[in-house]
Amino acid sequence: MGDEMSSYMCSPACAVGDPGDAVGSEARSPGRTDRYFAEVADTWVDRYTRNPSFQERLRAVAGAIEPVLARSASAWVLDFGGGPGMFSTLCAGRAAFVLNLEPSVDMLQAGVRCADVMASVVRQATGADPGESHGVAGSLDVLGPKARERFDLVLAIAVLEYLEDPSGAVRRLGGLLRPGGAMVLTVPRSRSWARRGERALAPLVVRAGALVGWRRARERAYTRLRPHGDDVPWAAGLTVVDGGDDLQVESRRALALAGTLPRSLIRPNEIIIVRKAVPPHP
Ligand SMILES: C[S@@+](CC[C@H](N)C(=O)[O-])C[C@H]1O[C@@H](n2cnc3c(N)ncnc32)[C@H](O)[C@@H]1O
Repeated sequence: MGDEMSSYMCSPACAVGDPGDAVGSEARSPGRTDRYFAEVADTWVDRYTRNPSFQERLRAVAGAIEPVLARSASAWVLDFGGGPGMFSTLCAGRAAFVLNLEPSVDMLQAGVRCADVMASVVRQATGADPGESHGVAGSLDVLGPKARERFDLVLAIAVLEYLEDPSGAVRRLGGLLRPGGAMVLTVPRSRSWARRGERALAPLVVRAGALVGWRRARERAYTRLRPHGDDVPWAAGLTVVDGGDDLQVESRRALALAGTLPRSLIRPNEIIIVRKAVPPHP
């Protein structure tokens, strides 16, 4: 990481000046979530090669970020909870700086090991030229006050559902956005039939899978880690981000699975674009 970026960071011992600037430990997930993502880190990238839900999410996010990155070659991107960095890889070919801020070191290490696979997934799914990003272990409490209003694009892809206080996290992520910048979020659609079925079946699948040693079944254990289930508080019916007057929902859309017609009827996730208003000239 270059010296410039390190000046935007706090060392762990560094107090963050304005508490409103920091998304810190209260937004951090408990240990069970950390352990789960450490355990699945090695298979995470692979899911983008085989899981239609992951592939569709990649294409949808690529479409959403396109206009932001097309506007400027000097964009800064924050991939909040970026895992191994698939979306960081997607942005990095077009942006000046991409930071993957990810608490799981195992996820970050998987990203280093699987850099070539991620590059080829991005190329195949979106036609975009992949690039290199910077991975930093931690959550928003490692960012110092200089990171405020520094990013043109903030991503939180499949992350908010694992946080105790997702709306607080979105407000604070909004504080890192430049006026005019965009935040791209994905959340589960709790009322979709796919999610209802998953909630009913996942506990059985996980238990049965543990008995017969079926590793893929263990992957389903994520359903137990979401503090609010599939309901990300504030996400339903949201138009303006609560408490962030300058953050407006620009669009929201259900995401189908990739491929065939029956799959397109299954819509387990939603993509939301939030825009930070540009203050009027005095
Ligand atoms: C479902 S994975 C999504 C990874 C990546 N965004 C993707 O879509 O491929 C959720 C990620 O959120 C991270 N995470 C969990 N709690 C977090 C927090 N408080 N701050 C930042 N990231 C967090 C996890 O470590 C995990 O890598």
